[in-house]
Amino acid sequence: MSRSLLMSEHASNAVEPARPMLSVNNIEVIYDHVILVLKGVSLTVPQGGIVAILGANGAGKTTTLKAISNLLHAERGEVTKGSIEFDGERVDSLSPNELVRRGCIQVMEGRHCFGHLSIEENLLTGAFTRRDGNRAIRDDLDMIYGYFPRLRQRRSSMAGYTSGGEQQMCAIGRAMMSRPKMILLDEPSMGLAPQVVDEIFEIVKDLNDKQGVSFLVAEQNTNMALKYATYGYIMETGRIVMDGDAASLRDNEDVKEFYLGIGGEGRKSFREVKSYKRRKRWLA
Ligand SMILES: Nc1ncnc2c1ncn2[C@@H]1O[C@H](COP(=O)(O)OP(=O)(O)OP(=O)(O)O)[C@@H](O)[C@H]1O
Ligand SMILES: [Mg+2]
Repeated sequence: MSRSLLMSEHASNAVEPARPMLSVNNIEVIYDHVILVLKGVSLTVPQGGIVAILGANGAGKTTTLKAISNLLHAERGEVTKGSIEFDGERVDSLSPNELVRRGCIQVMEGRHCFGHLSIEENLLTGAFTRRDGNRAIRDDLDMIYGYFPRLRQRRSSMAGYTSGGEQQMCAIGRAMMSRPKMILLDEPSMGLAPQVVDEIFEIVKDLNDKQGVSFLVAEQNTNMALKYATYGYIMETGRIVMDGDAASLRDNEDVKEFYLGIGGEGRKSFREVKSYKRRKRWLA
């Protein structure tokens, strides 16, 4: 058999690339009818991926996550262009609850727990969209305590009196109680000590590995996010200015200089650099 025939046979047997878990296509978001915040954002999360959205204050990370989970209306925000597909279906017009039922849930910035409820009660509130009975819910609670031993220890403490790290774990654990296919995680590192952030990201990686949950993580902490994500998108003023495999972003000179603080010309904060200069370099 000729080599070319062999190759074409091989090509016809090729496996189709897996359908993405999430695909955001060129979305635009406007707040208050006039403030244009996202200017054509596109990104993809493969099934079982951990993808990071990186960028400074006000870049548009939270807005992107809220656009996906349909939480913008509460803030007078609206997706005015583009489309969003989750698990192969358009989800732009679903309610946040319906989206949770389909397996996509957001953990908000600032780890919102109910301070006056115990950790366990908080976790149980995460099961509100489920209809598979108490037994299954109890089993999942146990599974979650397996991933978060600290939550098991603190199960009867009032959430308001637990540490910031424990509250972040509680917020992620509560999201897990909805049996998600995907979690949108907004700034899990905010205000936490580096070793606690590491502990949380290790658990995220574990949930990803063992439970097959995909993650889209918004982070200002580029260093930490690129340690755990497989792919990253960098946002500035409502646009994606760069994307790539986590390893290639970690090695990129601009990323090192502006986001990791280890540039060749000596340490420098990217905030000190005028944004037009940065944009020019990104786009060059
Ligand atoms: N409800 C709102 N109404 C008007 N403008 C808003 C609203 N929410 C956010 N913005 C603006 O949208 C832009 C993007 O904000 P967003 O919160 O998405 O950024 P971010 O990347 O999450 O920032 P941070 O790292 O500080 O959380 C900012 O300029 C912000 O001022
Ligand atoms: Mg934010």
